[in-house]
Amino acid sequence: MERLQKVIASSGYTSRRKAEELITQGKVYVNGKQVKELGTKVNYEDVITIDGNVINKEIQKEYYLLNKPRNYICSLSDEKKRKTVVSLIETSTRIYPVGRLDYDTTGLLILTNDGELANILMHPSNNVEKVYIAKIEGILMVEEIKRLSEGIIIDKVKCKPKRVKVRKKDLEKNTEIVEISIVEGRNHIVKRIFNEIGHEVIKLKREKYAFLDVKDLASGEYRTLSLKEVKKLYNLKSK
Ligand code: URA
Repeated sequence: MERLQKVIASSGYTSRRKAEELITQGKVYVNGKQVKELGTKVNYEDVITIDGNVINKEIQKEYYLLNKPRNYICSLSDEKKRKTVVSLIETSTRIYPVGRLDYDTTGLLILTNDGELANILMHPSNNVEKVYIAKIEGILMVEEIKRLSEGIIIDKVKCKPKRVKVRKKDLEKNTEIVEISIVEGRNHIVKRIFNEIGHEVIKLKREKYAFLDVKDLASGEYRTLSLKEVKKLYNLKSK
C-alpha cells in the first residue's frame, strides 16, 4: 500500500504537491469513489482517475541483496507459519526471491519484482555461477573430489560443478569445509550431490552469485542493488 499522492506522482502525471491539491479539490477518484483525504493508501491494482483520466501506474522495479539468516523460508507464505525472507525487507511492493535457498541455508539471495531479470538469472542457458561453502560430514577422498569434478547424476541429469576446492579439514571432528561452484539451480542440489557420494551437508552458505557477494552484510541485513549492478546482471543473458 502506498499513499495516493505518491502513486499519482510516480506515474509522472504531476508532482506530489500538485497531486495533493488535486486530491483536496475532490478531483481524484479511486475505484470510482471520490477521495479527498491525503493520507489515503492505495495499492497498484486500484484504478485512479483524475478529471476522468485513468492514471497509468508505473510499478517501480526494486532489487535487493539479502544475507539470508538460517530458519527463514523462501516462499511468500508458509502454512507452518515459519518466517519468510520477504518479511526481512521493508517494502510495500510484492517482491519475491530469485530461486530458493533451503530453510537452513544462509547467504546471498536476490529479491525483486522484476520478472524479466529473475528469468534471466534462473535460466540454465545463462550459466550464472553460484559459489557455495558447504560444511560436510567426513573427509573427501581424492577419488571423491574427482567424481564431484566430473559431475554427479541427479535425477538422470548431470550436475558438473565448475570448481570444487577443499578450504579446511578438521580431522578431529571429521568434518570438512568445501567450496563448490555450480551454475544450475535445482532445489537442494548441493546437498544432493554430496549425499550421492556419501557425505552429509551439515551447514550450507551461498557466498557468491555471479559477481555479487554479501561480505559487507551481516546475517539478516540487506541493501538495494545499484543500477550498474542491475545492468551487469541483465548482461548475463547469453546473446
Ligand atoms: N543447494 C542446496 O542443497 N540447498 C540450497 O539452499 C541451495 C543449493
